[in-house]
Amino acid sequence: MRSKIVAGNWKMNKNLEETEKLLAELSAKLPNTEAEVMVAPTFVNLSRSVQVLESSTIQVMAQNMHFEESGAFTGEISADMLLNIGVETVILGHSERRAYFGETDELLAKKVAKALEKGLRVMFCFGEELDERKAGNHFKVVETQLKNALFSLDNSSWSSIVLAYEPVWAIGTGETASPEQAQEMHAFIRKTIAEAYSNSIADEVSILYGGSVKPNNAQEIFSKTDVDGGLIGGASLVADDFLAIVNAI
Ligand code: 13P
Repeated sequence: MRSKIVAGNWKMNKNLEETEKLLAELSAKLPNTEAEVMVAPTFVNLSRSVQVLESSTIQVMAQNMHFEESGAFTGEISADMLLNIGVETVILGHSERRAYFGETDELLAKKVAKALEKGLRVMFCFGEELDERKAGNHFKVVETQLKNALFSLDNSSWSSIVLAYEPVWAIGTGETASPEQAQEMHAFIRKTIAEAYSNSIADEVSILYGGSVKPNNAQEIFSKTDVDGGLIGGASLVADDFLAIVNAI
């Protein structure tokens, strides 16, 4: 059975005090849930977040990492540094990293390979832009993103991969993909993986939806067969909203 996951990507938000406060509220109010619940605070607050959540089931993720082991890469963070402070999952491929920091599929393939080699779990993000959807190219774009960054992996690596389909036009815009659009794409993603690998690998991988998931639309999106949870931006910054989304799974 693949995992259900609700994950919060805090992006460049929350200072140390705000981080501690939000984590305390989340862990105090976390409902009994079958879902894995994860949060990705900023790098500077990761270590403290791991400490604060020590006795909680909420897991801490990083928002990015570099593909090199160590060395002269000013401003970068390695897989070993994350593991060393108790972070076991890293988000890679977020559309904001692709759009604002020039991350390409080729670069992401290196990051994914290094993260897996080191034993991190990878939450891999991908999704089409608005003009690509309007032109009817969204399936092709998504297929290419998956193929370029992930389809050199061996079969066993897939147990450490979580996919997050995030159509760029739905991120931070208040416009969500409809539950039907999400299901259609998630089913396509699963079929593409089944063709490249096997039915069992495709069945086991969790595929999250991300893009303006809010308490009022989460349940309908999560009810779709191939949607295994969500990667939440804005609504993950407010404890009650994020917890309502956790409750919707
Ligand atoms: P929003 O939920 O703010 O649209 O952000 C989604 C996202 O980018 C999560 O990684």
